[in-house]
Amino acid sequence: TVPKILVCRRMPTEVLKRAEAAGKVELITQPESDGERAPSRSWVLSNLPGCAGAVICLSEKVDASFLDAAGPSLKVISTMSVGYDHIDLPLVKSRGICVGNTPRVLDDAVAEVCLLLALMVTRQVPVATRTVREGEWPNFPWTPTCFMGPSIAGKTVGLLGFGNISQSLCKLLVPFKPKRILYTTSRERKFDREDKYFASLMRDGFPVDRIGVENEPEPIELAKKADLVFVLVDLNASTKHIVGKKFLEAMKPSAYIINASRGGTVDTAALVEALRNNQIAGAGLDVVEGEPGIHADHPLLSADVRDKVALLPHIGSGTTETRQAMADMTMNNLLGALGLREEQGKEAEMDAEL
Ligand code: GLV
Ligand code: GLV
Repeated sequence: TVPKILVCRRMPTEVLKRAEAAGKVELITQPESDGERAPSRSWVLSNLPGCAGAVICLSEKVDASFLDAAGPSLKVISTMSVGYDHIDLPLVKSRGICVGNTPRVLDDAVAEVCLLLALMVTRQVPVATRTVREGEWPNFPWTPTCFMGPSIAGKTVGLLGFGNISQSLCKLLVPFKPKRILYTTSRERKFDREDKYFASLMRDGFPVDRIGVENEPEPIELAKKADLVFVLVDLNASTKHIVGKKFLEAMKPSAYIINASRGGTVDTAALVEALRNNQIAGAGLDVVEGEPGIHADHPLLSADVRDKVALLPHIGSGTTETRQAMADMTMNNLLGALGLREEQGKEAEMDAEL
């Protein structure tokens, strides 16, 4: 029988449509009326029974209720995201189900948004654009000290986590001439030695180093030393609120924090307190705890905090090219796991399996 695939979001699905046209899969797609939005949980659960595969996004929580609804027919879950904190991976694996995600293809796009946020928040873009939009520019003519902020040049950059996105960001930052780049890593992660750029960087003696631990855990040492901290860890039990009260207290009052990973890595309440008390200089965020439920009355948008915060609605991977590549990888992972992949000699292989 032809395997049924539940497709939980409108996305470029040419690869899957071809498979459907060739009679290899039967697609169950979300109702037209949902548009681009996530389908309801009840629609997902009621359509899962009998499916061999599911194509999901961040908002589809994969837990026991999801797997129980699917039953024994489910062979593969393919998520259009690099992050997989919405999937109970040990549970899924214990049931022998393959999981695919979309690493690598989004590294540069997300790194670009990290750099964008760093420039926005250091160069006072939140207050500067608010001034213009509110018609207040005439009251703030150019002065030698208007809307000033620090340069990246000469500063110490701290990278929390040293995975693929972190290493892409490292390459983008070097031309801005930071004094040095320090990183933490939970695994024994090294520079990609095959990478010509990093090889030449090391040869030239550019100071990119794993942080030396003195008395504190690596993240706290990093907080003490860095002028710009980028959160680049994936969200799991050990990284939840890795940037919390203690971390923020260790940071310099002139330092900035940038987060384009997952909202849960930063304790929002502690961050708001730190911004209110001038414990740190500002925050650039592409992700926030509780997103997308961030309304105009959120503390990060309050009058005493908003000018120190650059807030974006999770656009990290959002170049046209990257989203297309993610969609292709999502479909290839799905078909690969089902042994139905047949292009470019890549038979029955997943691009990325968790
Ligand atoms: C986006 O946040 C992703 O995980 O791809
Ligand atoms: C996590 O991604 C790490 O590199 O530490």
